[in-house]
Amino acid sequence: MSYRDIYEGWKADPESFWMKAAEAIDWVKPPSRALWSDDAPLYEWFKDAQVNTCYNAVDRHVAAGNGDRVAIIYDSPITNQKSKTTFKELQIQVAALAGGLAAKGITAGDRVIIYMPMVPESLVAMLACTRIGAVHSVVFGGFAANELAVRIDDATPKAIIAGSCGVEPGRVVEYKPLLDGAIKIAEHKPEFTVIFQRTECKAELGPIDVEWHDLQAGTIPAKCVTVSGDHPAYILYTSGTTGAPKGVVRPTAGHLVALNWTMKNIYNVDPGDVFWAASDVGWVVGHSYICYAPLIHGNTTVVFEGKPVGTPDASTFWRVIAEHDVRSFFTAPTAFRAIKREDPTGNLIKNFDMSRLRALYLAGERADPDTIMWAQRVIGVPVYDHWWQTETGYTIAGNPAGIEKIPVKIGSPSVAMPGYDIQILNEEGDQIKAGELGAIAIKLPLPPGTLPTLWKAPKRFVSSYLTTFPGYYETGDAGMIDEDGYLYVMARTDDVINVAGHRLSTGAMEEVLAAHPEVAECAVIGVGDDLKGQLPMGFLCLNKGCTISEAEIVSDVVNLVREKIGPVAAFKLACVVNRLPKTRSGKILRSTMVSIADSKPFKAPATIDDPKILDEIKIALQNLGYAK
Ligand code: COA
Ligand code: AMP
Repeated sequence: MSYRDIYEGWKADPESFWMKAAEAIDWVKPPSRALWSDDAPLYEWFKDAQVNTCYNAVDRHVAAGNGDRVAIIYDSPITNQKSKTTFKELQIQVAALAGGLAAKGITAGDRVIIYMPMVPESLVAMLACTRIGAVHSVVFGGFAANELAVRIDDATPKAIIAGSCGVEPGRVVEYKPLLDGAIKIAEHKPEFTVIFQRTECKAELGPIDVEWHDLQAGTIPAKCVTVSGDHPAYILYTSGTTGAPKGVVRPTAGHLVALNWTMKNIYNVDPGDVFWAASDVGWVVGHSYICYAPLIHGNTTVVFEGKPVGTPDASTFWRVIAEHDVRSFFTAPTAFRAIKREDPTGNLIKNFDMSRLRALYLAGERADPDTIMWAQRVIGVPVYDHWWQTETGYTIAGNPAGIEKIPVKIGSPSVAMPGYDIQILNEEGDQIKAGELGAIAIKLPLPPGTLPTLWKAPKRFVSSYLTTFPGYYETGDAGMIDEDGYLYVMARTDDVINVAGHRLSTGAMEEVLAAHPEVAECAVIGVGDDLKGQLPMGFLCLNKGCTISEAEIVSDVVNLVREKIGPVAAFKLACVVNRLPKTRSGKILRSTMVSIADSKPFKAPATIDDPKILDEIKIALQNLGYAK
């Protein structure tokens, strides 16, 4: 069947489509039907099913006789370590950790925060939670104590599982002081923490800390706890317009069905194939495609700890793909921009056998045509851009390579996947013509596995996503659909920016800047960057009579963002201006500032770290009367 047949088949009868996909999951009690719409515009899928996520990701493969198949390949060039874990070994480790958590009183529905680096134990921790029905919330290691504290207060976890450290180029990032700092700041206090000690740095344990192996030792291995289809598998916080992150809730049954469906139909892998997503478990890509989808589908997943360049050089990705027989590879365009910058001719790839790789998948930010064409030429496999969000958990628009390899149009993440009716709407909420720009919206209901609500914030869910365009989910992205049905995602309609594939809120950064005692007013915008796609840049208006030098204030705010949000914000650019462009009603004209920064000569600056660029932006603002 062609993509078109399958898509139209879904559209004609979505419930049958998803009930058929649900047959690939091992249910304790199968769903009696697919969709619950009595609460529309809030929808739920497979609500009355009884199931366990970990059983489907681990135990069922052992039960099917595939226990000796490799589940996880760990490859860490940054620490010089490699290992392989079979499904049987994974089952033992997960059941032991889950048994330890259960013995300490964790039961179904309790929240557990996971603050871990890219080691296989991160997956073990996630699976141990879902094994006993606990709801995990993974926090990315590049976030600082304050961001962790915000998530502790929102998720109110009974326990936190953390690594002793992460390893970044040239430095070991000790997690324990960040964890202790976060627990101190947070109003909610977890009952205990579990610390996974790494050889690179041993954490000193305090009264509420338990060592990972001590927790596992001597416990009764936990059995899989059956939960209902609508039970939250996890909460993942993501950036919104304001500083408060949104807790995206992932429902158990829909998550299993949809992710399993994507592995063959989108990523074109069969059980047993090696699949690699080079991201981090702290992001949605890591949840869906490092941990859950490959394991549920019976694939081998690669846990990679390192960077595409410099560990040891720009050939790391090629080495990992060749050495581990990776069949489908997924990462963010920024990683390829980094490789291209180091090895523009792509010469290093010649030392590796890439013949088994079928395709490269890019997501997380707009894939620029240069990068796509470079990757296609150097690797010699199709490059599929695909578009999705933390909220959906998997592809909204992509190339359904496992069904039919449709022609790639460079600059477009291709076409809507079954489950998604994508529409381009104008400000009045009317559908607009092919080729015209508008807000990208998805006709409700969203498909299984997508967010049914925000954690403890159902009203925010409705106001953030379902209110602007009644009957639709508002994606926050703008773009167009061409005559052939190909989507083009051009920009965000809100204040979210995308830095090296990481979704960040400029509002959150503005809150930090505004807290500086000498900052009277501020704005943060995203400016174009050749490597990271976008970088945040702050504009500061100082208090009258401020005696501190501009340079000192700029350095203060740069340090403050790193300390409060974390190094991942990559906030290194700020300048002092005498006023901010505003509308008559006093609203800051961020779009004007973005267009100043993006206009010539700033477009795609060679390196935004160059102080000259900052000066040029400032001069442009001065010419318009905004800067001193
Ligand atoms: N723990 C602690 N610090 C972290 C961290 C972690 N898990 N991850 C990143 N950081 C730090 C980095 O060390 C860096 O600190 P610095 O300012 O002291 O140099 C800062 O946060 C910014 O990190 P990053 O944006 O990753 O930049 P980078 O220069 O280290 O690497 C890339 C740039 C493009 C190579 C890298 O971002 C990359 O490989 N991205 C592609 C894959 C990906 O992660 N995609 C995400 C969604 S699919
Ligand atoms: P996140 O929730 O972190 O996955 O970020 C989702 C956002 O990243 C989307 O709403 C888009 O703004 C952007 N994004 C993700 N994938 C793509 C893509 N393929 N093309 C353009 N933008 C993308």
